[in-house]
Amino acid sequence: MAVRKITETVFNIGTIDWDRQTFDELIPLPDGTSYNSYFVRGSEKNALIDGVDPDTIEEYISNLKSLNVDKVDYIISNHTEQDHSGTIVNLLKLFPDAKVVTNKKCKEFLMEHLLIEEDFFITIEDNETISLGDKTLQFILAPWVHWPETMFTYLVEEKIVFSCDFLGSHLATNETFSSDDAKVYDAAKRYYAEIMMPFRPHVKKHLLKLKEMEIDFVCPSHGPSFSNPSFILNAYEDWSGDNVKNKVLIPYVSMHGSVKAMVNYLVDRLTQKGIRVELLNMTKKGLGELAIDAVDSATIVFGVSTMLIGPHPTMLYTGTIINALKPKTRFVSLVGSYGWGSKAFETMEGILNNLKSQMLTKVLAKGYPKEEDFEKLDVLADEIEARHIEIGIL
Ligand code: FEO
Repeated sequence: MAVRKITETVFNIGTIDWDRQTFDELIPLPDGTSYNSYFVRGSEKNALIDGVDPDTIEEYISNLKSLNVDKVDYIISNHTEQDHSGTIVNLLKLFPDAKVVTNKKCKEFLMEHLLIEEDFFITIEDNETISLGDKTLQFILAPWVHWPETMFTYLVEEKIVFSCDFLGSHLATNETFSSDDAKVYDAAKRYYAEIMMPFRPHVKKHLLKLKEMEIDFVCPSHGPSFSNPSFILNAYEDWSGDNVKNKVLIPYVSMHGSVKAMVNYLVDRLTQKGIRVELLNMTKKGLGELAIDAVDSATIVFGVSTMLIGPHPTMLYTGTIINALKPKTRFVSLVGSYGWGSKAFETMEGILNNLKSQMLTKVLAKGYPKEEDFEKLDVLADEIEARHIEIGIL
């Protein structure tokens, strides 16, 4: 039972998934997650903003009952993905007179994904409003954060923006509003990195729109809400902005110690130069750590062991993930080792085609690195230092 009061007439009746470990069968959830659904009581009509994951339907219905919700006129769908829309069908059975309010694209998707019939919908345009009597809901189309149909809903009189996935965090918490800034910052950054970063230009555009609005509360569909909107809006501005940090991310796999010797040497050299390093042994670290550090690292150096003649599969996966997340990394390099032959670098470069980064000196050692390999690592470290100085971060 977890009804959380936002204001006198707005409640979060969503569910908390304390035990969920992965999302999309891909993204690790170290802190579980929550699916926020907001009930807005108007003088004439009531609205529900988004639903919850169908796996938590019993808790959701229980929350609805505990709030004595006897009438729902509008079910607002900000986003089709099933963790928010999957219970709309259940809601329509509970409240058969309710209408699903959404944009044209989202309606099309809901009809395809959830088989909801067209008669149930009211379709709105950008900035259109509907009245609940003494309250007004305004719809703001926000495509590509992170699907093409995503939108925000704004409760005009109370200055609340319901932003769905945008500005959210995978965090199981019964707190109404964020109070542990450090924990929420990390969870929100991880969420941004994994879900929003590939759409950075759209993030920037929609963020600007929100910054021009009067907002007292940000209510996303995952994690706690914010009664201090600038906290999350400023964090997003930093993450999605063009600035990078004086930081080198080094994800690596070392099968027999050669790549480990190379990346350790590079870490030493970069440390001497005052450059922060995040060294991730990808056989022990996951997508989350990789994504978070990719958000603002100026440089990524991949440490690549050769398996047969290609990259170790874990580095193939690492490269594929980085390429899909499209970080704003300015510089990239490859260091690695092989036994008798290798096309590992060619393969890695081939899968990093989304990155708009400058390739620096690559270092490929046969077997254990030797003096000439360490000299090339010195060259790479000097190049990284020079580039970081050039762009004004060192
Ligand atoms: Fe939380 Fe895109 O779903």
